[in-house]
Amino acid sequence: MAADPCPYSAPAIALHWAIALLVLLNLGGGFVAADLAGAEDARARALGRELLGLHQWLGLVVLALALLRLLLRLAEGLPPLPRHMTPTERRLARAAHGGFHLLLLALPLAGWIMVSARSGLARIPALPLGHDPPLATAAGATHAALASAMVGLLLLQVAAALKHELLDRDDAFGRMWPRWHRRG
Ligand code: HEM
Ligand code: HEM
Repeated sequence: MAADPCPYSAPAIALHWAIALLVLLNLGGGFVAADLAGAEDARARALGRELLGLHQWLGLVVLALALLRLLLRLAEGLPPLPRHMTPTERRLARAAHGGFHLLLLALPLAGWIMVSARSGLARIPALPLGHDPPLATAAGATHAALASAMVGLLLLQVAAALKHELLDRDDAFGRMWPRWHRRG
């Protein structure tokens, strides 16, 4: 099938893959750090704290890039989906993308609220929330639940990309790939 005449712009593609890489790192790092934080060994706990510091900074960068991506999307609009997709498939694809955008803001925000409301946890500038343990606990539970939702959406997107590539054999994946690699 011919390449889409109106693919994602180069900045949109660069932001997509930078965000995807950082989110993957932070998903892995978050689960490992949370595990280490509860370990018996004091050195493992110290390592967990170090990792959580990095986790918080990377998470803030994701939040900033996600805001940028959203502004770009509003400014540029979205390229149309491949022509053969049914209305239901289009709705599902758009809903999954919307879910990603929502998670990319809500997940780091919940983490930021959690560390700001629990004294001694923030390794980044804290939000002015004061010491509020119940808020920190609720934000922590939300953070973990949203992280699981992110894993779910990520698996769905990889499955969708594989289906487009291997079964539909359209250029859906190529739309999100740098131009010099896109097949014609
Ligand atoms: C956590 C990591 C990821 C996030 C947060 C993410 C997010 C998004 C979002 C929000 C869009 C819609 C475009 C937009 O509105 O900006 C999108 C499109 C896309 N993503 Fe991802 N993505 C991730 C990982 C991946 C991976 C691993 C793949 C490949 C296996 C992939 C392949 C694609 C493709 C092909 C599109 C274009 C869909 C279309 O034709 O419109 N993404 N992604
Ligand atoms: C894309 C951004 C982020 C992702 C994907 C992410 C993902 C995760 C994951 C998977 C966990 C482990 C959850 C568990 O099972 O307990 C976690 C824990 C944690 N995250 Fe994030 N996170 C992000 C951003 C942030 C930010 C911005 C902060 C703070 C500013 C933060 C602070 C924390 C803390 C403190 C924990 C440990 C919670 C505990 O030990 O109970 N995260 N994160």
